[in-house]
Amino acid sequence: MTQPFKGKNKSGLTRELIEALFPIFEQASAGAIAVDRNARITWINSSYSELLGLGDPASVIGRPVRQLIPQTRMPEVLESGKPLLLDIMEHQKQQLVVTRLPFFDETDEIVGAVAFVLYGDLQPLTPLVSKYRRLHQDLVAARKALAQNARTTRYSLSDFVGASPGVLEVKRRARLAAGREMAVLLLGETGTGKEVLAQAIHAASDRAGKPFVGVNVAAIPDNLLEAEFFGVAPGAFTGADRKLREGKFQHANGGTLFLDEVGDMPLALQAKLLRALQEGEVEPLGSNKVSSVDVRVIAATSRDLDAMIAEGSFRSDLYYRLNVLEIPIPPLRQRPADLGVLCEALLEDICRGQEPQGEMTDAALAVLAGYDWPGNIRELRNVLERALTMGEAGVLDAAAISKALPRSVTPAAINPAAQPLPHPQPVPPLAQTLAAAEAGAIEQALVASAGNRSQAARLLGISRSVLYDKLARLS
Ligand SMILES: Nc1ncnc2c1ncn2[C@@H]1O[C@H](COP(=O)(O)OP(=O)(O)OP(=O)(O)O)[C@@H](O)[C@H]1O
Ligand SMILES: [Mg+2]
Repeated sequence: MTQPFKGKNKSGLTRELIEALFPIFEQASAGAIAVDRNARITWINSSYSELLGLGDPASVIGRPVRQLIPQTRMPEVLESGKPLLLDIMEHQKQQLVVTRLPFFDETDEIVGAVAFVLYGDLQPLTPLVSKYRRLHQDLVAARKALAQNARTTRYSLSDFVGASPGVLEVKRRARLAAGREMAVLLLGETGTGKEVLAQAIHAASDRAGKPFVGVNVAAIPDNLLEAEFFGVAPGAFTGADRKLREGKFQHANGGTLFLDEVGDMPLALQAKLLRALQEGEVEPLGSNKVSSVDVRVIAATSRDLDAMIAEGSFRSDLYYRLNVLEIPIPPLRQRPADLGVLCEALLEDICRGQEPQGEMTDAALAVLAGYDWPGNIRELRNVLERALTMGEAGVLDAAAISKALPRSVTPAAINPAAQPLPHPQPVPPLAQTLAAAEAGAIEQALVASAGNRSQAARLLGISRSVLYDKLARLS
């Protein structure tokens, strides 16, 4: 075989070594070509001239490579003396994966370049590309999670979807709240978007660049709440850290503190919270030193605070502190007009990065409008997800939706033995069945308790914080 180059490689590789390597590359690749210092073809193998549709390789020797391969970057390699190890070159609608290397004479003068077509199409790279895409998706998810932990917000006001009069009033008040520093109280059933709104208010306020710190009062055992809120002084008790452990108030300094489920706060802590808000000062557990903090408070609850005040389980003075601007969020059952836009937004979010899903039919929307949504938008999201996984690909008609709604969970569906099935069904993994049963039981308890989670936890025989934990994993 004729060799396309003379001399020795710049890196000092001997001519023998290059000559030994060259045939291996040439044979393994889908084509190879060499040019001289002036980018004229000095050699091309038959597989490359076939791939390019050039006919007899001898006929192109001496021609400028650009004339035959307009997209080539060989001149660049000759100019810079640097290899282009991996590139995708388009040639007549083909995508070629190529590598290009310069070569040098004994005095290190560039004398030409050689190129190999590693792959004649991108097909062999599919596993690599899909692995890259998967990793990229993981990265996006990790960044999202990190943003949450990094005390920043994920939502803005445009994420609060809906155009019914009730939602427009919510948004009007949220904008008002964003423009001022006053305390805000968000009232709404579970899953109505209190967290979304709290983040959106922070993101639209002057404090947007500062931390947003959420604390779910109901999810933390009562005896740990004070430390969680105000921090722990060094050596406050056996086993305490030697450094000050900061609480949520200190973390939120300069920004916004979101007190979620504030109605679940024990009375003793209510008094301490009131003092912190009045004085703008906090006292870590076991310390006698106070430090001042500057936080804007947004509180939320799904409980009836008026009734709690009447029965003495919520302090009225704290209530007035928190409730300078009240934003009641209407439950989904009171605004069926929003179902269409909500489904659209939720489906887009659920299917992100995948094939677009089929549209909802009007009949399917009518079925949704007939349900009373104790779990509100979170439940709507779960129902849509279930309908997508259970139904035929992309079909979201009335039948698929009815099947996904919890009330169609009949005893026969839970216990297949009660009604023999006409065909053998694929058996799902046990973990999946158990998770579905758990989600069903939780949903049933929330329906029975009209969304009151303390009561739902009692019905299920689990603690409130365990229920919160499970709900967080479901949403
Ligand atoms: N108006 C809305 N537009 C779009 N998505 C919404 C809206 N409201 C809620 N969601 C979605 O519903 C889910 C529940 O919302 P969120 O956690 O804010 O509710 P919540 O009121 O804080 O509920 P909980 O009382 O259970 O904590 C989230 O996935 C959120 O993105
Ligand atoms: Mg919430």
